[in-house]
This record gives sequence, structure tokens and C-alpha cells, in this order.
Amino acid sequence: MPQSQQSHRKDEHVSLAEKYFHGEQANAFDQVRIRHDALPETAVADVDLATTVGQWHWDSPLYIEAMTGGSQRTGEINARLGRIAVACGLPIATGSQSVAIKDPQVAPTFATMRDHNPNGLIFGNLGAGHPLSAAQTAIAMLQADALELHLNVVQEIVMPEGDRDFHWLTNISDLVQALTVPVIVKEVGFGISRPTMQQLYAAGVRYLDLGGHGGTNFVDIENRRRANRDMAYLHDFGLTTVESLLGVQNRPDDLTVLAAGGVRQPLDILKALMLGADAVGMAGTVLHALLHHTDDEVIAMLTDWQSQLKRLFALVGVTRVDQFKSSRIQDKILLSPELVNYKQSIKD
Ligand SMILES: Cc1cc2nc3c(=O)[nH]c(=O)nc-3n(C[C@H](O)[C@H](O)[C@H](O)COP(=O)(O)O)c2cc1C
Repeated sequence: MPQSQQSHRKDEHVSLAEKYFHGEQANAFDQVRIRHDALPETAVADVDLATTVGQWHWDSPLYIEAMTGGSQRTGEINARLGRIAVACGLPIATGSQSVAIKDPQVAPTFATMRDHNPNGLIFGNLGAGHPLSAAQTAIAMLQADALELHLNVVQEIVMPEGDRDFHWLTNISDLVQALTVPVIVKEVGFGISRPTMQQLYAAGVRYLDLGGHGGTNFVDIENRRRANRDMAYLHDFGLTTVESLLGVQNRPDDLTVLAAGGVRQPLDILKALMLGADAVGMAGTVLHALLHHTDDEVIAMLTDWQSQLKRLFALVGVTRVDQFKSSRIQDKILLSPELVNYKQSIKD
């Protein structure tokens, strides 16, 4: 398969995401503690992970985030991800399909995910500036159930060959109106603030994916691709997933919020749910597992996470996902002083 600049970039992203992956590195989920109540009055056998996420019903509140496609190597990863998603019953997104809009020859590196996952929920992915025709092509390529539109200003700013024009809002609104599948607007690891949530909601967006800081860091990845590696100073730029979740509390009832960014283990998933996420996504952690293990081993890991999650639900006195919205559960959240300050700074 011929390698365009964009295909090559995706291979670099995979290698660099893995190079900078630190599975145990501290992040803002550590600044959230859970008050332990020693009498939860639950049984693991009574826990049901099934949940309603916007217009869908999912078996568990988890999904695999957008990563790959566009090159031979990442096409193979997409095929594996498709198989893993089916085996674990998880929704999954592909990486940005813009490379396949420019060069239809690489479309099979995305379509392979659908080939391996004919009936599962699959989300397409494009940058937020693409026109309607590109969005329709991306959806048709995968028979996608939804289209993710990514917001990635920080990444583009650091990327040597990145975009420099970020007028996206009107286009997002037009796409939400015109497309027949839901549009999920996502960040790629720098989070979404309350004002941005409000702008997107007013533009008609009903699905947000917070993609916060704390895991995969596209400043590190793109800075490494710069000749002088001179933009490392943006390493900490962005809102964490936890800050983003605090910002979307008390949101409109018809706004679905997916949370991803820095999920390292099942406890992070539990905390994100307690902070109001409707479902929780993972990218870097799954990629790392996939690069070091067989499909069966990754499936065993994710299945085990689902079983651990059931036990964690029981631990905090929850048997169904909708109970996370109750004040009985939300009162258990203990925020660090830094997070309390951030929460107090949020304006309606
Ligand atoms: C190798 C790699 C490639 C990615 N490519 C895309 C992409 O094409 N489109 C997108 O919206 N997000 C992309 N992301 C961002 C993820 O979807 C996610 O928002 C981000 O990595 C934060 O999650 P994490 O900390 O669990 O990795 C990519 C992430 C990784 C690790």
C-alpha cells in the first residue's frame, strides 16, 4: 500500500503514543476519592452494568476510543480492534477517516473494522471542519452508527504541518442538522469546558465526548515530530477529564456525555461514572494492551475489567448505572482542594 504523508503520520502517532504511554502515571482521577461506607447493602450478583446512552442501549458503560486506520499497520490494528469489540460487546470508534476521504484506496483499512464487527456499534471519525459530503462518505465507509467530529486545536497548533484555521462551530451545526446518524463531538485529550459545552449544545449537539487530559498527550506526540522539539511547554495545557466532568454537571437532560482520557484501570471508570459520565472510553490503555498481547489476552483483560467493575459498583452501593445520578451516590465523592477550587470557578 502506498504511504501518503497522512498514512505515515498515523503510524508515527501509534508508535509515539506507545513510546509515551505510562500506564500507572498519576493523573486527576487520583485527586478524586470515594467515601467508603462499610455497609453498602448490595450483592455483586445483583449488579447489572447495562445502560442507556442517548439513543442506545449498551451492555456496559464502556467503549473503545478513536485511534487508527489509514495505513497497512493501522488497518491491521482496526481489524483486531473490531474483533475485540465484538467479543467484549463494546462500542468502538475508528481513527480519523480524513486520510480515506483524500485517498479512497485506504478506505479498506477502516472498513475492516466493520467487516470484523458486522452488527456492533461503530462510530466514524473526522475533524470538525469537514463538509457534509465527506461526513456522508465517512459514515457510508463503515455503515457507521454515529459520526465523531474531533476538536483538536492544541494538537494542530503543535503539529508541524497542522491546520491553522479553527472556525468549526457553524459547520458542526450544519452537520448535526443534515446527517441522519448522531454526531458526537469529541476532544482528543485536552478536555471540554462548560462554555464549550454550552456553545455545542446551542448548535444542536446532543453527544459530547470529553476527551480530557491525563492519558495520551498529543502535545508530547506532535512535539516529538517537530525538528526542534520546541513546544514541550504545552505539555500540561488543557482540562483534565475530571475537570471536564465537573464542568458538565447540571447539564441539560438530553445531553449525553461520554468521558475518556487517562483511564488506567476500572477504578477510574467508576470515578468517571460517579462524576456524571454516561459511559467511559479508553484509547491508549487498549492500544498498549493490543501492542503487547494477543487478541484473546486483550479480550480477557477487558472482560475482567467488566467483572471488576461489577464488584466496584457493589462496593459503592450501586446495582444499576442510573443510580450514579442519585445524591446518595454523588455525596460519596471527595475532591482534592485543587478540584474544589476548579469546581467553584465554573460559572453557569
Ligand atoms: C494512537 C492514537 C491515535 C488517535 N487518533 C485519533 C483520531 O484519529 N481521532 C480522534 O478523534 N482521536 C484520536 N485519538 C484520541 C483518542 O480518541 C482519545 O480521545 C485520547 O487518546 C484520550 O484517551 P486516552 O487517554 O485513553 O488515550 C487517538 C489516540 C491515540 C492513542
